Amino acid sequence: MAPKVLVTRIIPERPLALLQEKAEVSINLEDQAMPAEEMIAQLPRKVALLSMGGDQISAKVLETGKDLKIVANDAVGFNNIDLAAATRWKIAVTNTPDVLTDTTADLTFALILGVARRVAEADRFVRAGKWVGWKPDLFLGSDIYGKTLGIIGFGRIGMAMAQRALGFKMQILYTDVRPIERSVEERYRVKFASLKELLREADFVTLHVSLTPETTHLIAREELGMMKRTAFLLNASRGPVIDEKALVEALKSGMIAGAGLDVFEEEPRVTPELLLMENVLLLPHIGSATFETREKMAFVAVNNILSVLRGEIPPNILNPEIYR
Ligand code: GLV
Repeated sequence: MAPKVLVTRIIPERPLALLQEKAEVSINLEDQAMPAEEMIAQLPRKVALLSMGGDQISAKVLETGKDLKIVANDAVGFNNIDLAAATRWKIAVTNTPDVLTDTTADLTFALILGVARRVAEADRFVRAGKWVGWKPDLFLGSDIYGKTLGIIGFGRIGMAMAQRALGFKMQILYTDVRPIERSVEERYRVKFASLKELLREADFVTLHVSLTPETTHLIAREELGMMKRTAFLLNASRGPVIDEKALVEALKSGMIAGAGLDVFEEEPRVTPELLLMENVLLLPHIGSATFETREKMAFVAVNNILSVLRGEIPPNILNPEIYR
């Protein structure tokens, strides 16, 4: 009998077909997240769960998966999964790193360009029929070229940001728990800085950390207060890394110049005041959303499942200790 797999949301055709060759797949075809109760109802006897970043895979959900061997999250972030509970029950948890690195960095750069050059605001202006002709001071923005980029979290996506920033002849500062190897610093022409130094010096501060207790509200009132009044804050990592209330206050009082946000503290809720501000660019969590990358991510998730079905350790295992 083919092993049973639950997929919480429609995935691209080719990776789905690959999974269907080896497993009996139940898939949520609704255009909305699978409610937790339904997941709980469907999990018994499933050996694998292919979940999305928006699904809350709590201890309660995992507990019902008595036959569950793997939760393959179709995202690089995995803060939506109770990893400790999965580890206790010896359920493998995997994510989809690497394949979305450049796509996410591209989108973060779109946030930088968009907010500094007021792209969405100018588009709204044209659509509203307000454009009456060329004006020397129409939508003046800020240069990006030659400015200082501050990268918080210098992992794969942070490095991809540095690579792009080099093309814009930016000075690049980064901060992380510790400096990286000198050769990597030289390759990306980046300089290590403390968080404080980075916040004080950067014209663009971009967040590329994963969400952990240590990074929750990493950027709050005090940190925003250290930024230049002319600086912009970008976030395509996870919403709770920024204290959204403090950000609203900082934007209102002119403590910083603007923000580009792809993620929010309580998605899909956006603090209503942000919706009224022209100096913020708001996107609905689409960092990795390209046809190519979403297909690659689904292939990675499916391959993690297939390797578990073959009795192997999945390539993107996040809790390898379950195999010890
Ligand atoms: C998207 O947010 C991801 O973590 O892949």
